[in-house]
Amino acid sequence: MLHCDGAGRYWDRESDAELVCLAVRDETHDMRTFTFGGRDGQYFDVLPGQYFTFDVGIDGVVEQRCYSVSSSPLRPRTISVTVKRVAGGRVSNWLHAGLKPGDVVRALGPLGRFTLPPVLPGKLLLLSGGSGITPVMAMARAFADGVCAPDTVFLHAARTPADFAFADELRLLAKTMPGFRLILLPETADDGFAGVTGRISQALMDCAVPDLAERLVMCCGPAPFMAAARAICRDRGVPADRYIEESFDAVDEAPVDAPPATTTFSVTFSRQGKTITVGVGQTILSAARAQGVVLPSSCANGLCGTCKSKLVSGKVDMQHNGGIRQREIDAGQILPCCAKPLGDVVIDR
Ligand code: FES
Repeated sequence: MLHCDGAGRYWDRESDAELVCLAVRDETHDMRTFTFGGRDGQYFDVLPGQYFTFDVGIDGVVEQRCYSVSSSPLRPRTISVTVKRVAGGRVSNWLHAGLKPGDVVRALGPLGRFTLPPVLPGKLLLLSGGSGITPVMAMARAFADGVCAPDTVFLHAARTPADFAFADELRLLAKTMPGFRLILLPETADDGFAGVTGRISQALMDCAVPDLAERLVMCCGPAPFMAAARAICRDRGVPADRYIEESFDAVDEAPVDAPPATTTFSVTFSRQGKTITVGVGQTILSAARAQGVVLPSSCANGLCGTCKSKLVSGKVDMQHNGGIRQREIDAGQILPCCAKPLGDVVIDR
């Protein structure tokens, strides 16, 4: 249960891990918002755009998933994440089916660098597709709760109007917030929808956001959506450093000019009964991918904690980016996406 005796204390990513579910709300037919408080009533210091990695135990196996915070960072007593139920997705279906107020979940965060610059730009485009709306919704809510907001276009694309999360709230923001313009873009819609339909394209962006090149673009959505957005922004003159995207699907590639490894170590995944060879300087995740071993992963950059695994034996060199706590490292956990073996190792996977 949520206590308030920790009021005044902030959530500490290193030592705090337990979130209490306070509320559950449907956003669409397949998206649901879960609101959490710290178990001791801690305040949260989250930048809009950041996420938490949730550890969910299902049938005796702990799975990790990253979910962006969708709530306003200026309401620091709680955080909300909005989860889309994915067909066949173990964690999203488990959360939708089972998580209810009073339940406690373990989470690591806040994490991530998909955040607004400290000095806000004069003009901004928040661009999202599908469930990618969550981090940019946190940004819009931060503007609504704050005193200053840039000239913002919020363009959100989804399959149909029934798939628009937060549509009523966004329409209200567009009515009440000066300089906030909303474009909801369904791929298809029936005749009752008053607006343009289709996918983002150069023609649509030229018409809807003619000053695109003057805007900082924050983009989040499925990979094909972001690829299209990236190409449009590049072609319309948005400088590379003014197009920022969120991705939980980064690929961990070895540099193309990396010299061929002459020394290799063996890495054994004890639960799968598989052994691979890993070159000196190569991460365990990239070698596993190359050799057909499936490991859970997301950022591939030591940020999200999705790949966290128990090291049964051996030593690794690990340069992470905050996706694991010191006490987890002390307990023998590693992040294979940023761990390079220093000898033969065995991992509990
Ligand atoms: S995949 Fe994100 S920390 Fe390893």
